[in-house]
Amino acid sequence: MPDTTLIAGRILSFDAMPEAAAPTASARVDEALALSDGRIVARGTRAEMLAQFPGAPLDDQGNRIVMAGFVDAHVHYPQTAIIASWGKRLIDWLNSYTFPEEMRFADPAYAGEVAARYLDLTAANGTTTVCSYGTIHPASVDAFFAEAQKRNQRVVAGKTCMDRDTAPEGLRDTAQSAYDDSRALIDRWQGVGRLGYAITPRFSPTSTPEQLEALGALWAQHPTCLMQTHLSEQTDEIDWVMGLYPEARDYLDTYEAHGLLGARGVYGHAIHLEPRERDRLAEVGAALVHCPTSNTFIGSGLFDMGGLLAAGHRIGLATDTGGGSSFSMLRTMAAAYEVGQLRGRALHAAELLWLATAGSAQALHLGACIGTAAPGMEADLIALDPGATPALAQRTARAEDIWDELFALIMLGDDRAIARVWIAGQPLN
Ligand code: GUN
Ligand code: ZN
Repeated sequence: MPDTTLIAGRILSFDAMPEAAAPTASARVDEALALSDGRIVARGTRAEMLAQFPGAPLDDQGNRIVMAGFVDAHVHYPQTAIIASWGKRLIDWLNSYTFPEEMRFADPAYAGEVAARYLDLTAANGTTTVCSYGTIHPASVDAFFAEAQKRNQRVVAGKTCMDRDTAPEGLRDTAQSAYDDSRALIDRWQGVGRLGYAITPRFSPTSTPEQLEALGALWAQHPTCLMQTHLSEQTDEIDWVMGLYPEARDYLDTYEAHGLLGARGVYGHAIHLEPRERDRLAEVGAALVHCPTSNTFIGSGLFDMGGLLAAGHRIGLATDTGGGSSFSMLRTMAAAYEVGQLRGRALHAAELLWLATAGSAQALHLGACIGTAAPGMEADLIALDPGATPALAQRTARAEDIWDELFALIMLGDDRAIARVWIAGQPLN
């Protein structure tokens, strides 16, 4: 294999989802990885890899921890410029900050500029895959996919659909145009290179039943696409939904009744769930995405990670940029730990790292190609530096083992701890 390259370091990977009773049992640490043609082809000791691939160039990362790049399973790239906006809860936050900013994406040049800025910021934070909402403008999705394609990044995105007068003038489509525009985007982008499409009704309050029905039909016609939306983020939102959909049994039923519940459904937030909703989501194998910095920032509530993991739900982790307060999945894992503490479930570093990589990848049905540093996987990788800052260096110097060190990296780390990023085997820096 003439184009094989080697990376040495502390290579962290997971053979399976960590179990609560023995969270590190499915993890392994190797000394070296071999990459070829954008994929991982082998892992083992440094001596084994050097013997198996004689003459292959070696990128020695020393004591850095090399692992899969982070997978951010729920973001709104168009909200990049309004991240960290003060003082509102969900509905006011959308009206005050989000919708005015999303209107600016009527200009494709602005969309292109923010897409590039967003992918620069996330890559600097070690995030190699995201699943993003666009705005109602199809060109916002074209801009995002074009930018990701230029960088050879595996991303998922979709046109946000809103046709109710609960969304402002200028930010509304119709049931028919949402169907037509989404279908044209699917034809243009779904499965092209590393790109995937998610049919994207924003959430039930900004769609009519007719629009939900049209998007449910579109999903049935394109079953390999994901479907992403929001579910039970705030109690005010749930009251609003129940007022707008008086026949619905619960919030989830507004999706279920219109063909928008399925295994490839990705439901953001899912905090205030009724027992029926939890059961149905588990039964169909739908994905729930925990967005902890957003849930504390917008004042939404505390996700029941312990209960939902124990019930076998498919769960991913996400920043929810720009409702979330950080682009960093390290910061997001730290927030997930803190929310877990408030709900009586201290997540282990192995569980947090798994959620931020393989867990999110599986939530997006991409677990066969990304999410862990194992042979056969695409080589989207990061190197974490445990000595990146004085605060980290003095703490990791006395770490008891690699898990203690990784936990400190999660709690104290930021973009300075991301020493290197590889996309499909190519280093970015
Ligand atoms: N619910 C509907 N739209 C949004 C959004 O843009 N951000 C968040 N956090 N929740 C939403
Ligand atoms: Zn969201």
